[in-house]
Amino acid sequence: MTYTAVNPPAGDLDHVVDAWDAAPGLTITAGAADTVDRLADRGFDGRLRLRVNPGVGAGHHEKVVTGGHPKFGVGLDRAPDLAARIDREFEFAGIHAHAGSGISGDDLADHRELIRRLGELARDLESAGVAVETVDVGGGFGVPYREDAPPLELDAVADATREALGDIDGQLAIEPGRYVVADAGVLLTRVNTVKEAPGTVVAGVDAGLTTLLRPAMYDAYHAVRSLARDAGDRDQVGVTVAGPVCETADLLCENRPLPRPERGDLLAVGNAGAYGYEMASTYNSRPRPAEVTVDGGLLRRRESLADVSRLDAPAASSRRPEEHEP
Ligand SMILES: Cc1ncc(COP(=O)(O)O)c(C=O)c1O
Repeated sequence: MTYTAVNPPAGDLDHVVDAWDAAPGLTITAGAADTVDRLADRGFDGRLRLRVNPGVGAGHHEKVVTGGHPKFGVGLDRAPDLAARIDREFEFAGIHAHAGSGISGDDLADHRELIRRLGELARDLESAGVAVETVDVGGGFGVPYREDAPPLELDAVADATREALGDIDGQLAIEPGRYVVADAGVLLTRVNTVKEAPGTVVAGVDAGLTTLLRPAMYDAYHAVRSLARDAGDRDQVGVTVAGPVCETADLLCENRPLPRPERGDLLAVGNAGAYGYEMASTYNSRPRPAEVTVDGGLLRRRESLADVSRLDAPAASSRRPEEHEP
């Protein structure tokens, strides 16, 4: 088990060090000397991996390129000293970096460069007497979100990785979570409003950026299909699928060719299995949706308005006069 955090709040570190007490095999990945100090302050001396900033990244959108951003990891110039310190004071579990998300065949050059730099660092550390157990190259394996996108050629990624990494004594690790679960989830949403607008038909739906944030946050493309029984008989029109929040970004797609929508239709939005519910919010007091299995089993019930307001303090007007602030 690995815990990888960026700027972990104190409570998180307390929690993870408690978890390590119970399960000493836990590996913690730290991306700042400060985090290493804070772990030492808590008595942690277990398995610690160093997240480095390799100065290069990749990804489908500027907001998901992590590799070279100052927020993530320790610069390659500082990494050897910090790795040596970790090796002295903890169990050094190797090095880590994550290029970014949605790496496609086109981005392989950047991905390859990141891995080349990690391989070089691993060899430098080895020759300085610091054994590197694992070189973790993160996730980012591109999911074909578009219907016409070719699937990522995993063999090509593997070949590029092997070649760029070169010979290392330790093991290669990857974090393919999104790639494994993205197409395991579909978002179902009902059309509640249909409106002819200049240049497009707007289908107002129950879901939106509070349910699936990726289109609003990253301009991400998700396939949309009409599940209306007679969808095949309807004419195709440019449809803008819009959520119920007063934000222009609250769109699941814009002017996409789809069967003409009607109020009550169900639409299916694909590849919602990764960063779907996890990124869902209760912004605008919108309850989050239920999660169900394909055969109808309930995994998580739909939130109610009462759930959303559960933690609110009583409204000022309903408090007794003596409780009001002066
Ligand atoms: C350290 C690390 N590993 C893995 C991932 C997952 O990347 P993806 O979902 O693109 O596969 C991230 C995402 O930010 C990450 O920061």
